[in-house]
Amino acid sequence: MNDNREQFSSKLGFILAAAGSAVGIGNLVGFPVNAAKNGGGAFLVIYAIFVILICLPVMVAEFAMGRHTKKGPVGAFGTLSGQQPFWRGAGLIGVITPFMIGVFYTVISVWILGYLIMAAVGELEYLASPDSFGQYINSPYIFAAMLGVAAIIYLILKLGVQDGIEKASKILMPALFVMLLALVGFVLTLDNASAGISFYIIPQFDKITASVVNGALSQAFFSLSLGMGILLTYGSYLSRKTNIVSSAKMVALTDTSVAFIAGLMILPAIFSFNPDVNPSELSDSSVSLIFVLLPKIFLALQTSIGFFAASAIATLFFLLVFFAAITSLVSIIEVPVAYLIDEKNKTRKQALTRVGAIGGGLTVACALSFGMVAFFTEMVTYGGGMKSFFDIIYDLFYDTILPLNGLLVCLFVSYRWKRHELNKELSVGNDEFEGSLMQKYINFSLSTFIPVILLAIFINTVAQKYFSSSLFGF
Ligand code: PHE
Repeated sequence: MNDNREQFSSKLGFILAAAGSAVGIGNLVGFPVNAAKNGGGAFLVIYAIFVILICLPVMVAEFAMGRHTKKGPVGAFGTLSGQQPFWRGAGLIGVITPFMIGVFYTVISVWILGYLIMAAVGELEYLASPDSFGQYINSPYIFAAMLGVAAIIYLILKLGVQDGIEKASKILMPALFVMLLALVGFVLTLDNASAGISFYIIPQFDKITASVVNGALSQAFFSLSLGMGILLTYGSYLSRKTNIVSSAKMVALTDTSVAFIAGLMILPAIFSFNPDVNPSELSDSSVSLIFVLLPKIFLALQTSIGFFAASAIATLFFLLVFFAAITSLVSIIEVPVAYLIDEKNKTRKQALTRVGAIGGGLTVACALSFGMVAFFTEMVTYGGGMKSFFDIIYDLFYDTILPLNGLLVCLFVSYRWKRHELNKELSVGNDEFEGSLMQKYINFSLSTFIPVILLAIFINTVAQKYFSSSLFGF
């Protein structure tokens, strides 16, 4: 085993880094809208149950595999399976998936940086105009923003685990909490804010359908950065003194709290802008919320608080989302970087250059797939529509393969690596684990109902996405 491996300096540093990965665009905008549209408080309860009963055991398993082997997904699945090709393949999917999700996430982060700059220089009126988003994402400016995002990620990752990832998280995460609370404080002073809160919190059980339940689980899975090899890789930088189970609980709690608090920012803002809004009619897409609806809300604030204050609020919001996106991007790009360092004996700098070159090329292609280049915009037809390169990456890796990766982790730790080995690893830094209720729950859930549920989601998604039929009625 590699004793020179980089390590997080403390449990807090590790928790902030993992929470930095988990807290992302999904929490700040995806979650609030999803919750409001799909049953408010009822959705919140289901989501919380999924985080505790399903996501937490998977997170613990990923951390344990990483720490035990001190390797990323390919090395971890490989070492623990005696280099069986099937499991090495599973590890490889665990590297390719984050790489590809990183591509589409980078494109969105690039747009956010552009909006942040435009808000900061007082271009609210332009941002709120109906054509601005379409114009901006097809303008040459996005390539400048892309270079900006690439430079930030490169600088953080080049500094390594402790001086790069951990330090960035220790600065960005507390800043993110403060900005989020400041924005919530402000939004709650707006007229009609309480209607938004009521809508968000009051449970509407009649809205809960099988597809809402499925959506809640997918949201929780993505939000906690599961199935992306990220937590496994971060686990490989974890000291043997750290208690994995309690760290995982902290990460899940932080992520879920930020998602919940983000709802207290987004929904009052939407309701104060339009008291008659029917949230069920809000767009499902986080993209249209961030780049179309919210700029209109910021502009409308001008009449009550003036141009400068409205621009400051908009800037603060985009900065908040940008910080959240950066810590997530860093974590996802670290996975292929660690792969090249561990498995291909590259230095960190060489690994970053390679990932940057290939990832950069794919990111440009993805950014061109919104109309700039027809080939990437209209690539293939499936599931009843013409799909762009961006859509394909999203459907294939985010929607389809993510639950599959989670399934492979559960099956692997339960049946290949074996439970007693998992338990031994989880007892390191946690004397009370052996024989605890937590141990029994983790062992039972990972080997029984969690893989069954993830398999059902996987099959259903494939049927729905690619064959336009729903097998289980959701
Ligand atoms: N948890 C992130 C979010 O909610 C998802 C993510 C993590 C995406 C890491 C990319 C990289 O937005």
